[in-house]
Amino acid sequence: MELKEQIDKEKIPVHVAVIMDGNGRWARRQGKPRVEGHRHGVRAVREVTEAAAELGVRYLTLFAFSTENWQRPREEVNALMGLLVNTLNSEVETLMKNGIALHAIGDLESLPPEVHANLMKTVRETASNQRMTLILALSYSARCEITRAARLLAQDVKAGKIQPDEIDEKRFASYLQTRDIPDPDILIRTSGEYRISNFLLWQIAYTELYFTQKLWPDIRKEDLYEAILDYQHRERRFGRISEQVNPDNHR
Ligand code: IPE
Ligand code: IPE
Ligand code: MG
Repeated sequence: MELKEQIDKEKIPVHVAVIMDGNGRWARRQGKPRVEGHRHGVRAVREVTEAAAELGVRYLTLFAFSTENWQRPREEVNALMGLLVNTLNSEVETLMKNGIALHAIGDLESLPPEVHANLMKTVRETASNQRMTLILALSYSARCEITRAARLLAQDVKAGKIQPDEIDEKRFASYLQTRDIPDPDILIRTSGEYRISNFLLWQIAYTELYFTQKLWPDIRKEDLYEAILDYQHRERRFGRISEQVNPDNHR
């Protein structure tokens, strides 16, 4: 049976998050400049986005550029920013066709003006699409996001809008950029690195982690199917015991 057909349509993760890693190594292995890896990564973005929308995933978050990535060589940063503008322009049609709304998180003000303008334009144009929300994490780092939330919250306390004893997890999370988005059910990282690299630290408290050796430019729809199948075989206990979360398996 094909992988896709083995997927239980009743247990599709609501939110899939992905750390797209390994572009540079993909290019290097072929004796090409790193930028070539980023260029070929666009196809993988398209495949995973389409596959997720087809399966009924409601939120797909892609880590495209971290705050720390600004420290890379200037040519690589420039090439990535250029690629982003081109991809936004070339993919709007596909987003519209597939009913996908684009959203972005991160320190967006620090993006070059052209990138920022293109991003906001695409976000506006796709805003009423309902099938899936594609969230791009750009110039994003979780510690920046959490620190910013703390700052905004402190300002509201100072202004008398909230009392300190009214601050609970739900209230705190409402100051994060992901406030209207449920926590990821699964986080996928490609390229065989086993770390989080400052991605969604607050939100992944109970997310299922999935790692693959494949480099991002080699990722296709089938790889998403594999990850989701793996996810569907896990038991999410959230601190409870198996008998509580799956009584039917223990009768
Ligand atoms: C991921 O691939 C893309 C970005 C971080 C922008 P890398 O560029 O990190 O590729 P490797 O990890 O060096 O192979
Ligand atoms: C994480 O990848 C950031 C993105 C995928 C955008 P990196 O390649 O920057 O991560 P580290 O530095 O190797 O952990
Ligand atoms: Mg990397």
